[in-house]
Amino acid sequence: MSKARPTATEKSSTRSAETPRAVLFDAYGTLFDVYSVGLLAEQLFPGHGQALSLLWRDKQIEYTRLVTTSNHGAHYQPFWALTRAALVYALKRIVAPTQAAGADFEPQIERLMNQYRHLSAFPEVRDVLSALKAQGIPTGILSNGDAAMLNLAVKSAGLDGLLDHVISVDPIRKYKTHPEAYALGEQAMALRADQIVFVSSNAWDALAATWYGYQTLWVNRYQLPFEELGTEPTRSGNSLRDVLAFFPSPSFSKSLTP
Ligand code: LAC
Repeated sequence: MSKARPTATEKSSTRSAETPRAVLFDAYGTLFDVYSVGLLAEQLFPGHGQALSLLWRDKQIEYTRLVTTSNHGAHYQPFWALTRAALVYALKRIVAPTQAAGADFEPQIERLMNQYRHLSAFPEVRDVLSALKAQGIPTGILSNGDAAMLNLAVKSAGLDGLLDHVISVDPIRKYKTHPEAYALGEQAMALRADQIVFVSSNAWDALAATWYGYQTLWVNRYQLPFEELGTEPTRSGNSLRDVLAFFPSPSFSKSLTP
């Protein structure tokens, strides 16, 4: 009944995929650590931080799907606006019922949004991007985030100059998992999806990118199950360092210590 998930090595030996020529990363939760937002939420609303940040994230993604699939995109709003709307929803649902009627959360909303604007990168990000750069492998972000928030996140996290592309879906007004959103990565890299590794910590994103045709790495930081829809990512790992296993160059294994 409990069939073990194939390891990266087992899977790669059964696939004939070519060595990828570029790497694209999802942004939020993949390169940028949203944990600090949960900590602040707990500080501002003791006892509710975890529930608040989980619902905030789920609602944010739900809103991206809602505006992408409804009424031919007529209700599109940039990711920053959807992120704020999702926070307001989560506060109304989780915190408001525990407060006096008419409580105003505006100052806390501003603080949480400001925290979201200035996230840290996960500790291994700089090393991994530097190692890819040293090998001449083009890299980029392919994110639902709008350009302003992505550029600020890259700057705040000190990743300036380490990424060749910062691609936002905003110009096409369609969020992942719409195929046109994933197509932006191919266009920017001037490569086919199967020549690119797409890296995400979001299982749904890794799944949809696999369906689209990318080689994929799911970075499972929190030991979660993968989506149960019959498709597996090309590889799974628990750190962004696992992307280096796609590149069989011996210098890679030497360039990074675990
Ligand atoms: C992004 C979200 C989905 O950066 O994490 O696209």
